[in-house]
Amino acid sequence: MMQRRQMLAVVGAAMAAPPALAQSDSVKIGLILPMTGPFTSTGRQIDAAVKLFLAQGGSRAGGKKVEVILRDDGGVPDTTRRMAQELVVNDKVAVLAGFGLTPCALAAAPIATQSKTPLVVMAAGTSSITEASPFVTRTSVTLPQVSVGMAEWSNKVGIKKVVTLVADYGPGYDAEKFYADRVTLNGGTVMEKLRTPLRSPDFAPILQKVRDLKPDALFVFLPSGQGAPFMKQFVERGLDKQGIRLIGSGEITDDDQLSEIGDVALGVITAHHYSAAHPSPMNKKFVADFQAMHKFRPNFMAVGGWDGMRLITNGLNATKGAGGEALMTAMKGQVWESPRGQVYIDAQSRDIVLDMYIRKVERRDGQLWNIEFDAIKALKDPGKSK
Ligand code: PHB
Repeated sequence: MMQRRQMLAVVGAAMAAPPALAQSDSVKIGLILPMTGPFTSTGRQIDAAVKLFLAQGGSRAGGKKVEVILRDDGGVPDTTRRMAQELVVNDKVAVLAGFGLTPCALAAAPIATQSKTPLVVMAAGTSSITEASPFVTRTSVTLPQVSVGMAEWSNKVGIKKVVTLVADYGPGYDAEKFYADRVTLNGGTVMEKLRTPLRSPDFAPILQKVRDLKPDALFVFLPSGQGAPFMKQFVERGLDKQGIRLIGSGEITDDDQLSEIGDVALGVITAHHYSAAHPSPMNKKFVADFQAMHKFRPNFMAVGGWDGMRLITNGLNATKGAGGEALMTAMKGQVWESPRGQVYIDAQSRDIVLDMYIRKVERRDGQLWNIEFDAIKALKDPGKSK
């Protein structure tokens, strides 16, 4: 395999050539997602949302045909980096998009910088990703946004003693720190901070520890896809019966897995940027169109993908189809209505500003949904003020 420095030199040289893009009547988006491996649900959701967006009239932008080239990185950062390089050098994409996991987004960021190719993070949630390159922007969420939202709510309802449980990598560290700092500031106590490996986590020993600690609540962040197996174990080990409140980031009551999780999810309270039950006319149409096309329910990853396409398309309309620095500039400050509510890209941080919802799992019309009942409006990433 090519060394990183050599590879960046290749990327740089390729981009020094006159851009073919300006003359072309199509504009290419390189979409890199985990379509296989343990994080497939992320890839499947985002790919489905991108297909919906194109079918809804999004297949032209800036006077050009929009062409999406999908690549499966399996959630492996070295593969992401190689694919990003190939998409830029060989396929001459105007934008890189997708990125199911933080390490994958970070692996591709140097390619974005070298080639001046905008990179739109549709899934990953570690705050610092947008600081890895001036060409990175994001349409998902950051874990500090989610965790501060959850901490504010837990203080409000008088939860005092908590244990945190997070996946042992970037977004987990953000979740742990921002939840603990805010809860402590408001008078709560974090009894213990527990972590599980990103790949093949075993929740049994950790949950035994939580049982013994007997906190008022367990705060959890696990990446998308791990919610259902975690919930199953939580209940099998009887923690729900012990009176330990389960709270956390919305992955534990993922819309993609909620019916599989079943009634044990009833009453669980989470913070997140999107629920398929969001009661706006735009979201009702989004969910109906998505389900008609794909036969499954969209989750928060789908919305990150759909919004990513919206942002890219808005940008391309402004640049008349040009990529590069012009497109990056055009994407900063974009405001649009998303199925989750109004969002915008903060021009300074290039990160998304959104409403952070507090939701409770309830049964409606025979199905389980995350019903929003509180929100922090227009929340900027708290990770950027540090
Ligand atoms: C991430 O790796 O940043 C990540 C992955 C899945 C999530 C959230 C964050 O659900």
